[in-house]
Amino acid sequence: MTVQIHDHTDVRVLLLDNPPINGLGLATRRALGEALDQAAQDAVIRAIVISGAGTLFSGGADIREFNTPQALQSPNLHELIEQLETSTKPVVIAFNGTALGGGLELALGAHYRVAVADVLIGLPEVKIGILPGGGGTQRLPRAVGLETALEMIVSGTPRPARQLIGTRLLDEVVEGDLLQTAVTLARRASESPGPYPRVRDWAVEQADAAAFLAAARERIAAAAGPYPAPLGCFDAVAASVNLPFDEGMASERAGFVALVESAESRALRHAFFGERAASKVAGLSADARARPVREIGIVGAGTMGGGIAMNFLNAGLPVTLLETSQAALDRGIATIRANYENSAKKGKISAAQVQQRLELLRPSLDYAALAQADLIVEAVFEDYAVKESVFRQLDAVARPGAILATNTSTLDVDRIAAATARPQDVLGLHFFSPANVMKLLEVVRGRQTADEVLLTALAVAKTIGKTAVVAGVCDGFIGNRMLEQYIRQAGFLLDEGALPQQVDRAIEAFGFAMGPFRMGDLAGNDIGWAIRQRRALERPDMAYSRTADLVCELGRYGQKSGKGWYDYAAGDRRGQPSAEVDALIERHSRELGLERREIGDAEIVERLLLALVNEAALILAEGIAAKASDIDVVYLAGYGFPPWRGGPLFYADSLGLGNVVAAMQRYARGYRGEAWTVAPLLARLAQNGQSFN
Ligand code: NAI
Repeated sequence: MTVQIHDHTDVRVLLLDNPPINGLGLATRRALGEALDQAAQDAVIRAIVISGAGTLFSGGADIREFNTPQALQSPNLHELIEQLETSTKPVVIAFNGTALGGGLELALGAHYRVAVADVLIGLPEVKIGILPGGGGTQRLPRAVGLETALEMIVSGTPRPARQLIGTRLLDEVVEGDLLQTAVTLARRASESPGPYPRVRDWAVEQADAAAFLAAARERIAAAAGPYPAPLGCFDAVAASVNLPFDEGMASERAGFVALVESAESRALRHAFFGERAASKVAGLSADARARPVREIGIVGAGTMGGGIAMNFLNAGLPVTLLETSQAALDRGIATIRANYENSAKKGKISAAQVQQRLELLRPSLDYAALAQADLIVEAVFEDYAVKESVFRQLDAVARPGAILATNTSTLDVDRIAAATARPQDVLGLHFFSPANVMKLLEVVRGRQTADEVLLTALAVAKTIGKTAVVAGVCDGFIGNRMLEQYIRQAGFLLDEGALPQQVDRAIEAFGFAMGPFRMGDLAGNDIGWAIRQRRALERPDMAYSRTADLVCELGRYGQKSGKGWYDYAAGDRRGQPSAEVDALIERHSRELGLERREIGDAEIVERLLLALVNEAALILAEGIAAKASDIDVVYLAGYGFPPWRGGPLFYADSLGLGNVVAAMQRYARGYRGEAWTVAPLLARLAQNGQSFN
């Protein structure tokens, strides 16, 4: 069923019923169109109410239909809206829940609208790089005024109906029985002969619109960065003031078509669909179900354990936090408290919320306190012996069916699982620092991890608002394994002629949130140092630039020691280029017998990105990542990759994989060329003229 039909004597109520979001896919549009026709012809029916079944009104276009010919098939959204506008029987919309995008545009075609006070109403299209193409840019300004409509459309942020009381969008806002209100309104309206009000006939309200628009355009252009959609939205909304309705609609159409074709919108849509696809894992047993997770245990209250705990507390789940000493426990709790109090000071949460969250936190020094936990996350020192001992003790106390997760960033999850008698219940949950802030969560599937356990982890990720990507077991999983090759290239660039500030500047100009050297200084250069020392034993064939070790040997660990690749004066987090580091790098090049050369920004960017791409191809071929879009999602959600470029593999596709391989072959003839052995999967795709995504 896609539309439910209920008669309230002479008023017909149509409920959109297309779970999960009452999306306006073709089947729903057809059902609604037919139901409207029937209502028009039914002599008993005098008026029509449209609302949503379930908790939403409509989330808008059906994303399953996005970019398919179905999206345009009749009746399309415009035709449905016209059907509403021209109905000779009055049509009332009852916003029972969220109304977004096409859902709101549909509602703007009706004669009257009523809403529950707290429902969210918005046009979020800008967030995927387009503009509302169903008349929203022309009708919303007529319904809520120019200023409000422009803000809603350019930001994409929905508003509660309560904030729109007093505008012509909403005829009534109710706390009580919405449907009864709507039916009563519809019946009363039908007592007058019509025609009934149409939003398209109203004038846009705004004092001094020309001056307002000029100022707004400047502000929006300044904030838009590399994205064309905010200005596209602006232009369409401006047309609602400057042009008659039908010409404004034509302007909206032209803007929509231009944006849909833009590289930025393609990239944003790739990310949008990639994120949804990441939470769907192929090949799981059909009857596997996520287990309920109500109580959380966390072992280790350090940097990661504390941040991880906050995620669950924020979601209202009780957390038992275990440490080895009272001092460590007190330190961990004090940090959590300080973080919350800081958020309260900034007005992000209320004092009551701070209190509620802290009350859910149960500190303990005793493993027995974890006996009731449904999910236990370990975040102790990165050391096999310590972790194995923790898992043995967890195995002894955890209830059957409890999920045991490790937050290790480099260790073998299968080996840790083997410390227990229940490896099927063990997996990796790799959070990123700061764990209460970063969106990405790598869910590491061990050799024996049960399907149910994996599904539970994905469900938990959703509960705590993380973007989850499933990874197989290997050193560094998806994100850090690729990052190692990127950082290696950054080091080779120093040997050959670049300086850290130039490398960072080039990749930041490309759009990365932070270049590799700035990132090293933030995370602590000693972390990479320890990894390289281990690598020297495991992979003596893998060469690194020595510069990073030399920097560490000077005690330049990064921000925490006041100096790293950059110098940090007290209170300065940006850092200044360091003469000491520059001299060290130049000396090292001489020792290597290299004639330093001028390296262009384009080469820097290309080498860093292609290093990511080549390792990603290996990761895909090994099945560590299930699909290319998963890798893009990892980089977008966890590594500051520029969203408008869609992730490393989407970007490689846009360059053309033939060009990517040709560039790698060129670099293979240069310094440290052995790093550029083209991954077989990449070579094959390029040869066949295919792409990753
Ligand atoms: P940390 O040193 O800040 O915290 C570790 C905590 O574990 C300490 O408070 C320590 O007292 C406690 N601990 C040690 N042995 C314990 C035991 N047997 N029982 C209970 N508590 C014990 O370390 P951090 O940075 O929080 O790292 C923890 C884990 O998270 C490591 O496996 C690390 O590789 C991983 N990780 C770290 C990231 C980071 O950026 N710091 C990012 C992602 C993962």
